Amino acid sequence: MNVPPHIHAAWNAALDVRANAHCPYSNYRVGAALLAVGHPTLFVGCNVENASYGATLCAERNAICAAVTALGTFTLRDLVLVTEQTAPPCGMCLQVIIEFADTNTRIYLATPEKITHKLALADLLPHQFDPSHLYSSHD
Ligand code: THU
Repeated sequence: MNVPPHIHAAWNAALDVRANAHCPYSNYRVGAALLAVGHPTLFVGCNVENASYGATLCAERNAICAAVTALGTFTLRDLVLVTEQTAPPCGMCLQVIIEFADTNTRIYLATPEKITHKLALADLLPHQFDPSHLYSSHD
């Protein structure tokens, strides 16, 4: 897929950080890189597994936590996810992504060889529980 230079740079950053994955249990390496609206910095994360299994942290959520740690709350513009074979974010990561997303947020799925998909969040999760559900009435 042809992508603009900033997405290509995010893909490279996700590829690089994927090498740092701590995944002795699954051997499944994941790298994520994101761009926030109005900020040039790339924030990255890899998966960090735990012997308890349940305390495992996904790459996407680690990248989001890095962004929040640096910026405070932010709006997610683009997130690039690199896995060995193309895969979408897990459901828990989608829920966390939604917290920081708007309708312009795009998720790129990629392998080490190529970027395969450019998706809106609504493609991945059509019916989303978002913060507005806490405060307004929905049909
Ligand atoms: N994983 C992620 O990092 N992101 C996802 O969206 C799906 C799963 C990680 C968690 C675990 O370390 C490994 O992939 C296998 O599930």
